[in-house]
Amino acid sequence: MSKVLQVNDLRVSFDTYAGEVQAVRGVSFELEEGEVLAIVGESGCGKSVTAQTIMKLNPMPPARIVSGEIILGDKDIVGTSEKGMMKIRGKDVSMIFQDPMTCLNPTMQVGKQLTEAIRNHQKLSREEAIKEAIRLLEIVNIPNPEERAKQYPHQFSGGMRQRVMIAMALSSAPKLLIADEPTTALDVTIQAQIMDLLKEIKEKTNTAIILITHFQQ
Ligand SMILES: Nc1ncnc2c1ncn2[C@@H]1O[C@H](COP(=O)(O)OP(=O)(O)O)[C@@H](O)[C@H]1O
Ligand SMILES: [Mg+2]
Repeated sequence: MSKVLQVNDLRVSFDTYAGEVQAVRGVSFELEEGEVLAIVGESGCGKSVTAQTIMKLNPMPPARIVSGEIILGDKDIVGTSEKGMMKIRGKDVSMIFQDPMTCLNPTMQVGKQLTEAIRNHQKLSREEAIKEAIRLLEIVNIPNPEERAKQYPHQFSGGMRQRVMIAMALSSAPKLLIADEPTTALDVTIQAQIMDLLKEIKEKTNTAIILITHFQQ
């Protein structure tokens, strides 16, 4: 088993006009290939900031890594530049968000978006990328993928959009997938389906998954 991620005593703060907000205070965890780690905690406890920091998606400043290590594969990315991170994002770690529309373009056919994402990461011809897009739509259990690929995000239900976003996240075959409250906006039956899908993906692809969720109040 190889280690995909090791987070050691991570501390992240925001420098605000009102002073320092210590959003993450000494978090440590690790994941191996094919492992699922759930991060559970009340709203505001620093789950999203932890996830965003692993991908270095939070603007710095105001965010600041105070101390700690984020070892992706065998490299500590705390000091990695934005240019370096652009190569790591997608390939090594990919994220799915609560709201699928944050990463889907409403004006572009779903298949075209997937094809572009695939060609950003893999050297494939247009035809090969289209085939791969259909395959990904099949993996996330979208019925009639050939026809669906020609449609726009608004023609998909909430649950189906979430599946498309997962397909986008998988387009680069990441070693680690971070799902930040992927089902919060969905109804309970669909939530269960998305959870089953994540499990299926883990079994099929051996991707490590960090699943973030909050306590129900
Ligand atoms: N841009 C920001 N500026 C200042 N504080 C922030 C910023 N983003 C998040 N925080 C604070 O960091 C803490 C953790 O937030 P977050 O990780 O989003 O919580 P959650 O566990 O609900 O995902 C919260 O107290 C939040 O107010
Ligand atoms: Mg959050």
